Amino acid sequence: MTGQMILKTDRYSRKDNKHYEGAMTQGNGYMNMRASFEEDLSGERQDERYWRLPANVTLEKIRNPISKWGVYVPGIYGRHPLLGEELVNLPYLPGVNLYCGGERFDMDDSRYEGYEKTLDMRDGVLRRRVCWKTRTGVSVDIVWKRYLSLTFAHCMVQEVVLRSDKDTVIEVENFLDGAVTTNGYDHFVSVETVCENDLEMYLELDSGQHVFLSSRMEIPGVEKGHTYVQGRRIAKRYPVHLQAGKEVTCKKTGIIVTDADEERSAPGASDYAVSDLVERAAQYRDEYARCENGYELHQKEWERRWKDADVEIQGDDQLQFHLRFCIYHLLRAANRSGNVAIDAKGYAGEAYFGHYFWDTEIYLLPFYIYTEPEQAAKLVEYRYRTLEGAKKNARSYGYEGARYPWESCISGEEQCPNWQYADLEIHITADVAYGLLEYCRITGDRQFLKEKGMRILLETARYWMSRARKKDGKWHLEGVMGPDEYLPFTRDSAYTNYMAAYTLKKTAEELSKLTSDEQQALGMREEEPGLYEEMGRNMYFPYDEEAGFIWQSDDFASYEDIDFERVWKDRSVPFGNCISQERNYRCKALKQGDTVMLFYLFRDRFPEAVRRNCIDYYEKITTHDSSLSHIIHSIVYGDLEESEKSYAHAVKSMRIDWEEKGAAEGIHIANAGGLWQGVVCGFGGLSGIYPDGSLRVEPALPEHIRRITYPICVSGKRYLVTVEKDKAEIKERE
Ligand code: BGC
Repeated sequence: MTGQMILKTDRYSRKDNKHYEGAMTQGNGYMNMRASFEEDLSGERQDERYWRLPANVTLEKIRNPISKWGVYVPGIYGRHPLLGEELVNLPYLPGVNLYCGGERFDMDDSRYEGYEKTLDMRDGVLRRRVCWKTRTGVSVDIVWKRYLSLTFAHCMVQEVVLRSDKDTVIEVENFLDGAVTTNGYDHFVSVETVCENDLEMYLELDSGQHVFLSSRMEIPGVEKGHTYVQGRRIAKRYPVHLQAGKEVTCKKTGIIVTDADEERSAPGASDYAVSDLVERAAQYRDEYARCENGYELHQKEWERRWKDADVEIQGDDQLQFHLRFCIYHLLRAANRSGNVAIDAKGYAGEAYFGHYFWDTEIYLLPFYIYTEPEQAAKLVEYRYRTLEGAKKNARSYGYEGARYPWESCISGEEQCPNWQYADLEIHITADVAYGLLEYCRITGDRQFLKEKGMRILLETARYWMSRARKKDGKWHLEGVMGPDEYLPFTRDSAYTNYMAAYTLKKTAEELSKLTSDEQQALGMREEEPGLYEEMGRNMYFPYDEEAGFIWQSDDFASYEDIDFERVWKDRSVPFGNCISQERNYRCKALKQGDTVMLFYLFRDRFPEAVRRNCIDYYEKITTHDSSLSHIIHSIVYGDLEESEKSYAHAVKSMRIDWEEKGAAEGIHIANAGGLWQGVVCGFGGLSGIYPDGSLRVEPALPEHIRRITYPICVSGKRYLVTVEKDKAEIKERE
């Protein structure tokens, strides 16, 4: 791997701290941790309580403390009275305070030199170094290091290395802090603490789940520490006698286990016992302690993951760096041991409450399908697990079948606190079916399709049948919101209708392939395939044949034109913040790509002239207020050989999290998956697979990019694709 693989900042600022905490988030497939400092910052409290009200997250004015801790185990959720099931921020595990002569080291208050904080994307190790100029006149070099082990998934490994220029005593305080809230809400029903050799905390959540955390500090030559207990914070402080110039390494390990962990025989079962958690934590700690090459194993695993996913770009170092930033987060956020998907913030923050959107199928799934199909399988499996919830959801709206929630969490029932999206963004149901069909097509996993996928397809088809209305020989979907969230309650959205029609036709096709025994086992009625085929064929599509133009929705022309120059003067803030929602909702201003999405998802179905007409018209009225927007425009423009426009949109997409310091509330993980698609499927030309299984690669490299090399996996076979201008080479890998 050549090129910049280190995320780095050497300036601490109160304004940007929260961004770096999010941007350098670590994860190992079991847990994720924001890259907050080890020590308390400026006395900043992490247990502030407030009501985060249902609001549009994109436009919400969020709170901006200097620091926001975040320790997340996917699948560990709480119940918020207004926001529904939400990912819970767990007690702060990496906490370490340092004291010298009564002064506590504080990035906001202490004197220091040579600050540097880095995250190495090759092995996920977070480092920080600083030389602390204490008030007692001692210079203390401090290096903090931590990583979440890929080999021992429950284990956080941490070090603090100290060296002073004079003999001195540094008090090293290991702490575990349960005084934390999630979006201002306290999800802990009970918190029990033990403060002996190890610090232990044991929680019951308002979801009924249980979590156990334990933390141990080991310092050579230091046996005893003082115990401090203050409310939900427990701490142990050790005096460390530093001799001038001599280094001391304090080692810390942190363990998290929960009763929802997969390795438990019956996750979340009522026979839950504290002892089970405690025993498992001890076992994991021992396993880690017995292993002599813990870091090497961890590093090897990272190396393997990068090998199957890394994309090399020759001729564009910026794009190369940003894409690797995205791939790093896609690799670390993939949930390897649990049974949920990847939330909208990539488990790096609390915005969107840890919920799952269409982002999963349309933006994230392709990356995993092509690089790590076993991970992709987990994402589609998640939708199967929540099928019962989706069926309940349909019933609650008065329909049959399964209606996937716009915002999904543990149960599969709707968690979106805003009625507009919850009620109207029904395209999610087609997106789920589309995603699983793509997964099965590219991985060749027919078994999943037969055993589970067919159930999803059948139930979602039943939903469309009861939701659509037939008029003059055509099927209509009224009262819907397409991907463009700035127009609610439209009629016959092109995107929604096309996606529903496509999945209905595919469902009919797949149902017809089943033997009658299989059809029976599925509970399929004889007439169903025919019904879905007819509905798919006769779904209304708002297409003006004469003009060669697709309307975003059948009623789109009736919305008011808006003078963007007058309304949107300050382009550094989202358009949505410059206009009232009422006015926005009746104007021709798009939040994100909508109809143009179809040209990417169905690359060979629409004539070039139609694609050009549409994108040229819609682009002018698209605000890109959603981070999901730019990259799709990039790919569609690339297909139209508009290289400059294509690249310009890719640049906007790549800058969102790192360069524009947009990660304070978490990573825009859909955009990360989008950028991968932009480079691999856009510039890199991976256009799909022919029915005979052969790969189709049609590069659309921008002028200055000489070569792109990317690994992919199709039907269980691994390939390395190298594209240059008008040239593509596909080699099999072992
Ligand atoms: C976008 C949605 C997206 C959601 C979560 C919203 O701002 O409009 O398309 O699913 O964010 O990423």
